Amino acid sequence: MSALRTVLLTALCVSALATMPDAGAAQARRATFGALADGTRIDAVDLTSRSGIRVRIITLGARIQSLYTPDRTGKLADIVLGFDSPQQYFDDSNYFGATVGRFANRIGKGRFTLDGHSYQLAINDHGNSLHGGTRGFDKRVWKIESTRSGSSASVRMSYVSPDGEEGYPGTMHVTATYTLTDSGELRIDYRATTDKPTIVNMSGHSYFNLASSPAHFSTMRDLLQINASHYTPVDDTLIPTGAITPVAGTPFDFRKPTPIGLRIRDGNDTQIRYCHGYDMNFVLDGRPGTIRLAARVEDPRSGRVLEVYTTAPGVQFYSGNFLTGAFVGKHGIVYRQGDAVVLEPQDFPDAPNHPNFPSATLNPGAAYHNEIVYRFAVKR
Ligand code: BGC
Repeated sequence: MSALRTVLLTALCVSALATMPDAGAAQARRATFGALADGTRIDAVDLTSRSGIRVRIITLGARIQSLYTPDRTGKLADIVLGFDSPQQYFDDSNYFGATVGRFANRIGKGRFTLDGHSYQLAINDHGNSLHGGTRGFDKRVWKIESTRSGSSASVRMSYVSPDGEEGYPGTMHVTATYTLTDSGELRIDYRATTDKPTIVNMSGHSYFNLASSPAHFSTMRDLLQINASHYTPVDDTLIPTGAITPVAGTPFDFRKPTPIGLRIRDGNDTQIRYCHGYDMNFVLDGRPGTIRLAARVEDPRSGRVLEVYTTAPGVQFYSGNFLTGAFVGKHGIVYRQGDAVVLEPQDFPDAPNHPNFPSATLNPGAAYHNEIVYRFAVKR
C-alpha cells in the first residue's frame, strides 16, 4: 500500500470514528411504532442517555409516547400516560404526549380577527376551538428531518400545515426538536414560520404521573409549585374573561409547594367548579422569552421530581379532570380522574381575542419559538 493511501485511509477512519457515537454516549435510534388502520406507518425515535433516562417520540403528532426515569431507589418507570398503538392515539381526544397546535388551548367560538379579516376555525369543544380543531397537529403525521447521537441525543420533526387548514390562515412550516441531554433533561424546541399573517401557540401535552406503581397512581398527594402570582379566570366554557387576577387567597396559589388535592374540591370557588378541578392558565412570573422555572412537581412516595422550564408567558395546569376510567392505557392501567399532572407552557388561551394578553400573532418574516425543558431529579 502506498504511503499516501495509508495516510488517506487513516484519515478516513479517524473522521468516521469522530462522527460515530461512542457506546456510552446518548443515542438516537429509529424504529417503527406501528400503523394506523388505513395502513399509514407511524415511526418512532428512541432517545437514550447515559443517565438511564429514555424517551420515545413518535411521528403521529410529534408526541412523547413513553418516558422512563428512575425513582429514588433507581427503579425505572414510564412517567407519561398514553397508548401502545397508533390507532388508539388517533381515535382518542386527550392529546396524550402530543405537540398541540396550531393554537394550543381554546379560542372562544373559534373566531378571531386579524388585520381586518375575520376567521372561523373548526369547533370541537362546547362551541369553542380546542388545541387546533378537529384534526390539529396531534393527529398529523410529522416527518423525521434528522436525528443526532453524541453528547446528547435528538430528533427534529417537521410538518407543513396548508393555508386554511382547520380554518387558520397562511401556510405554516413547523418543527419540533426533542433533545435528551446526559444530565437528565429533555428539551423541546418548537418553531414556526408563515407566509401570511396568522396566529400560533404550540405546546407539549404530556400527562405526567411520577408514581412507581399503579397502586399509588393518584397525583393528589403530589406537591406542586407554580411560579405564578396571577392567573386568567374563565367562564363556564373555559374561555378567559380577560381578567388577570392575583392567585393570593385562592386555590390557585401554588407559589409554595402544595399537595394538588388540598383545595381541588373547594366548592366555594367558581373556577374550580367550572374546571372540574384544575384546568387553568397561570401567568408566569419573570420575563417571557427568557427560559425560567414554570413549575415543579414532586411525588413524595417515589421521590421523583419534575421541573418544567419555558420561554412562554403562561402555563396551563390541567389535573386530568376528564379521565373517566373508561379505557385502558399503557401497561394495562385504567386512567381515572386526577391520575395526571399536565403542565402546558404556552401563550394565554383565547389570546387573539384579548388585546391585554401577550400577542399570539405571527407575521411572514418572523419566527415563532417556544422552548420547554423538563428536568428530572430525585429527592432522597
Ligand atoms: C385542556 C382541557 C382538556 C384537555 C384534553 C387540556 O389542555 O385544558 O380542558 O380537556 O386538554 O383535551
